[in-house]
Amino acid sequence: MSKNNANATSKQKISFFFVRKINIMILKLKNYDLHIEKINQALVDLEVEKYSQIIILVDENTKRFCLPYLLKYINAQKINIIQIKSGEKNKNLKTCEKIWSKMMDFQADRKALLINLGGGVIGDMGGFCASTFKRGFDFIQIPTTLLSQVDSSVGGKLGIDFKGIKNSIGVFQDPKMVIIDPFFLKTLSKRELKSGFAEMIKHSLIADEKQWKNFQTIGDFDEVDWQTAIEKSVLIKKNIVEKDPFEKNIRKALNFGHTIGHAVESHFLESEKPLLHGEAIAIGMICEAYISCEKNLLPKEKLEKITSFFLKNYEKVNISSEIHGKLIETMLQDKKNETSEINFTLLSDIGTFEINHTANTTLILESIEYYNSL
Ligand SMILES: NC(=O)c1ccc[n+]([C@@H]2O[C@H](COP(=O)([O-])OP(=O)(O)OC[C@H]3O[C@@H](n4cnc5c(N)ncnc54)[C@H](O)[C@@H]3O)[C@@H](O)[C@H]2O)c1
Repeated sequence: MSKNNANATSKQKISFFFVRKINIMILKLKNYDLHIEKINQALVDLEVEKYSQIIILVDENTKRFCLPYLLKYINAQKINIIQIKSGEKNKNLKTCEKIWSKMMDFQADRKALLINLGGGVIGDMGGFCASTFKRGFDFIQIPTTLLSQVDSSVGGKLGIDFKGIKNSIGVFQDPKMVIIDPFFLKTLSKRELKSGFAEMIKHSLIADEKQWKNFQTIGDFDEVDWQTAIEKSVLIKKNIVEKDPFEKNIRKALNFGHTIGHAVESHFLESEKPLLHGEAIAIGMICEAYISCEKNLLPKEKLEKITSFFLKNYEKVNISSEIHGKLIETMLQDKKNETSEINFTLLSDIGTFEINHTANTTLILESIEYYNSL
């Protein structure tokens, strides 16, 4: 946590606001509940019968692996399905048009409910479409990837990529409910699991040193108790977004690794070998830990620990010097910048962060060179 924001205060607040039974956690956020439990238990609170129709947004993978499980537990008169193509390259205006057109075809009104059944792409884009169609109707998030369960489904940030810039069009809008059911992870590939794991590592690096140490003992992903690990990560995110829903202050902590990570992700999206979000963010975290160290915030031995952990778990990627200019250009477009300078959240130690730092081009490129030289 930020050195200025006492951890003790946040913990007290957290324990007051959640209800726990065995394998059930319900976090009470200001505008909605976040259930970490089996879908059938969570859906009881949703009262689907009050909606004029239920629309479920899926891609080809969640239609195959997740929809049958959900349909077992939804008891509604009118259910319509919208299927889109999976992948970040389809998180764009063209796909939104398709979704909005289908909503028109189904005569969706403001009493409809959209269920986003999928990863961060479905959640970000479906939420954006529901929030803007006829000036907005209710939606819920049922995240089905690790990344969307621990990160993108929490906090109400919705949007799409535009002109090669990630998430450059979007809104803040809370869902009516989030249901995180670890059951969905069973069909997720190891590569996707690792991508989500990168955001969990980020949460530990900015706010939970103990969890960071726990992560270093993981030998095999099959042995991880995802329910417990997800709960810890979601609590960190929830605690931060509740304090600063519109990212004016402390929420910027969650951008650690994302300034450089997003630029790298955007570049590779257009290549023959796109990186997954978490893979790009892992690179971003190494570079931004380097910048933290160069600015005398993070001790060198901590930078080395962070670096070797990511290198052990994520494949090394070559970032050619030919694209340095393009990466800087993309970072200058980053919506997190407040002046013409590039904004960073940096680590002041493992488990603590500082927001509103800037770095000049020379230092940013040096950090990328540091990564390349590993
Ligand atoms: N809104 C936010 O605050 C926020 C935060 C972090 C990331 N994001 C966004 O999230 C997106 C990345 O999300 P993601 O990593 O979930 O990627 P994704 O949505 O592309 O899903 C990854 C892949 O997994 C498949 N899949 C989903 N669930 C599955 C399951 N249970 N079994 C088998 N396959 C399944 C999908 O079809 C897809 O091919 C990015 O667009 C990123 O910008 C948003």
